[in-house]
Amino acid sequence: MRILSGIQPSGRPHLGNYFGMMQPSILLQEQGDAFYFIADYHALTSTHDPEVLRQNVRDLAIDFLACGLDPEKSTFWVQSDVPEVTELAWILSCVTPMGFLERCVSYKDKIAQGISPSHGLFAYPVLQAADILLFDSNVVPVGKDQKQHLELTRDVASKFNDRYGEDLLVIPEPQIREVAATVPGLDGRKMSKSYDNSIEIFEETEKKLRKKVMKIVTDTTAVEDPKDPTDSYLIQLYSLVATPEEVAEMEDSFRAGGTGYGHYKQQIFEGIRDHFAPMREKREKLVEDSAYVDGVLEDGARKARAKAREVIDRVRNAVGC
Ligand code: TYM
Repeated sequence: MRILSGIQPSGRPHLGNYFGMMQPSILLQEQGDAFYFIADYHALTSTHDPEVLRQNVRDLAIDFLACGLDPEKSTFWVQSDVPEVTELAWILSCVTPMGFLERCVSYKDKIAQGISPSHGLFAYPVLQAADILLFDSNVVPVGKDQKQHLELTRDVASKFNDRYGEDLLVIPEPQIREVAATVPGLDGRKMSKSYDNSIEIFEETEKKLRKKVMKIVTDTTAVEDPKDPTDSYLIQLYSLVATPEEVAEMEDSFRAGGTGYGHYKQQIFEGIRDHFAPMREKREKLVEDSAYVDGVLEDGARKARAKAREVIDRVRNAVGC
């Protein structure tokens, strides 16, 4: 089974990235042939400063390794080090109806935010389909916001297979974990860099982390009154870093009343701090060892490229190029 996923180097990873994609990817590396990459070509749609992009790629590679990505078990590379992906993206563009892309919610969202769209932003899902299909991927661990892009990938692969031959491209399945499908941000909307509502997994200081957690929006129920744990952002965030027993205790305490939201936020802060403490330590060591990080990415690119060549040869042969 080939497992594959990607993440954009568009800033430091937040809890949504970690629990939606990085943690499941790290768990899945025990269960199959795992392929993970840093999507720098995708980040070009929004990051236009080359130094910032380079630094973001580097930081994200270190963050992912610190969190437990094991290069002995997973192939880990930077997307642009396997340029065959852009070749496949073009070929797939020629089987993708415009309507597929016009329907994409993430594109429509960006336009609604006032971003003037480039062709790259519009074609973004085709490049993502190429990322996945270039490696014969079976399973793609992602957050719920990527569901539509995965559906598009499946549709594009089917169109390609209908036109050029059955079973040429492997149809992938998304894997979305219920508990972290959409991790809420400080304002209750999806946690996202572009909404400025994120908690990074490695906030600079404990003080900054605590300050952010204290900012999570809550309703105005008085301290002494019972509170509803259903659909509470606090409970949702706590579930990510606490045991089921600890979550049940917090839920009981909500229902009983007599405790203010500030107390729960303190527990969430401590939960997040403790969850990432060993990874933070590992990160500090990796920052000092850039030769190791370079070696991992070079090695990963070499392995990924060998697989990519196999698929691109099959595809070129099928289309007549
Ligand atoms: P990106 O970089 O925005 O996010 C990386 C991963 O984090 C997940 N995620 C979340 N999950 C739960 N709750 C949240 N609040 C939250 N925010 C982000 C995303 O769902 C994603 O899994 N297009 C992709 C990158 C990509 C890719 C691919 C993914 C490029 N090629 C091929 C899979 C396969 C993206 O922008 O993710």
